[in-house]
Amino acid sequence: MTGLRGTELSLVSLQRLHAVVLFGSPGSGKGTQAKRLTQALGIPHISTGDMLRDRIRSGTEKVSAVVANMQSGALVADDVMNAIVQKRLSEADAARGFILDGYPRTLEQAEHLGMWLQRKRISEVVIHLAVDYNVIIARLTGRRVCPLCGTLYNTVSQPAKVDGLCDRDGGKLLMRDDDRESVIRERLEAYEKQTRPVLEYFKASGHRVEEVDASQAPPDYVFKEIFQLIEPDDRPGIHG
Ligand code: AP5
Repeated sequence: MTGLRGTELSLVSLQRLHAVVLFGSPGSGKGTQAKRLTQALGIPHISTGDMLRDRIRSGTEKVSAVVANMQSGALVADDVMNAIVQKRLSEADAARGFILDGYPRTLEQAEHLGMWLQRKRISEVVIHLAVDYNVIIARLTGRRVCPLCGTLYNTVSQPAKVDGLCDRDGGKLLMRDDDRESVIRERLEAYEKQTRPVLEYFKASGHRVEEVDASQAPPDYVFKEIFQLIEPDDRPGIHG
């Protein structure tokens, strides 16, 4: 990484970086990479899936259509998502940049975000985490989450030291409701029909899109690749 050490990279990155959009199918590793990026760059990780789950847990989200859509693997309505994200992006901690995970995932959301970024003069880089279809189901059925700190595990690729318990705080690891195989298939179908076209839209409309092969390599290796791509240099796409 051009000979800079980690802290130097973070400081330089913060001066220039605005928005990182992590794009990819369910199970491609968006959440895994967003957690690493938010630590390295000091800008917030904004996950629409996490925000929806928090709202349901806390009772803020009482609209049954939202709950039903999430349980079945369908997407939540665009107007709901656009309002939630726009409000979150306006909060103070996002003023120096943010990492989007799980948004936008329809053309309407992409256009809404594009207009918002343009109005705010924020440049973005879209990182596409490309993963083979056949590894996704195994990854998602093996995913476990700590309900206390949000750390992600995988029974195969990233097991906890003590089976079923979080390494950090001993929390009892849970499986997500929508990680059942029948629901995963619905989520993948929604991705193919509604979300994959967003990638073509980004490319066709001149946004900076970077491809990262996230199928086989371990998370730390994928992270290094992403970090190299968003490292400050003379690329015009991520300048302030
Ligand atoms: P959301 O929570 O966003 O789920 P998703 O997009 O389906 O993505 P996942 O969280 O399943 O996967 P990920 O890519 O983050 O992978 P992870 O890092 O966890 O959305 C849930 C639902 O909310 C949607 O179905 C929809 O209903 C609704 N929703 C959310 N946003 C919406 C929007 N904008 N519009 C409309 N509706 C919306 O990794 C997965 C597993 O793989 C983990 O176990 C991890 O440890 C492991 N792993 C990760 N990387 C690697 C690697 N390199 N090698 C081996 N294992 C790895």
